[in-house]
Amino acid sequence: MRVRNVKNKNEILRNSNYVINNPNDYIGKWQSVFNNSNPIYLEIGMGKGNFIIENAKTYPNINFIGLEKNGSVLTYAIKKLDGINLPNLKLICFDANNIDLLFFKEIDRLYLNFSDPWPKERHAKRRLTSPKFLDKYEKLFKVNIIIEMKTDNKNLFEYSLKTMSSHGFIIDDISLNLTEREDFPNIKTEYEEKFILKNNPIYFVRMLKRVNF
Ligand SMILES: C[S@@+](CC[C@H](N)C(=O)[O-])C[C@H]1O[C@@H](n2cnc3c(N)ncnc32)[C@H](O)[C@@H]1O
Repeated sequence: MRVRNVKNKNEILRNSNYVINNPNDYIGKWQSVFNNSNPIYLEIGMGKGNFIIENAKTYPNINFIGLEKNGSVLTYAIKKLDGINLPNLKLICFDANNIDLLFFKEIDRLYLNFSDPWPKERHAKRRLTSPKFLDKYEKLFKVNIIIEMKTDNKNLFEYSLKTMSSHGFIIDDISLNLTEREDFPNIKTEYEEKFILKNNPIYFVRMLKRVNF
């Protein structure tokens, strides 16, 4: 996501009650951050935050954590939260390359929405559904691994179906155009809104894997 550099981004992040500035300190202890035992859903690459913020408003009995590596982008989400109190939402500025340093057996669901497609083969390892990332994700989850993915990029979608299937995931739900699904309680992301206006199909899949019996 291209945004201009926000010069005082570090100050904005430091002063927000939503941002956890020392996330490594909470590995294995995220439940204590929310002070309840509700499930924890994580979004990697949350961008400007519409999806995670609207989810937190809609589902107060679920805890939501949004992760975004670009501090300037994160300030847009913080601005949206001005004057809003959502005790079930926390935000982290962090690169998912080291996601296994943040969580251990405490996540219930992972959202990957319109992740960067990294189309060149030599960059395949950077895709958030590459085998390298799938290995890391295994350690984050309490019991079953549940990953929900939305993208308008057919190549990334097909690649992800293959890598996740090879990793032992099964498909729980799939759609080749989520926009046409009237039965699906979809909360849209900023990118999704743009792609829908362009009439791009929105690919969706929810994949499951049972671990940690
Ligand atoms: C294409 S944007 C999509 C943003 C948002 N999910 C949406 O649908 O509107 C991808 C976002 O993922 C973030 N991102 C990419 N790789 C990441 C990583 N390794 N760790 C954390 N965030 C990442 C980017 O900074 C960018 O904001």
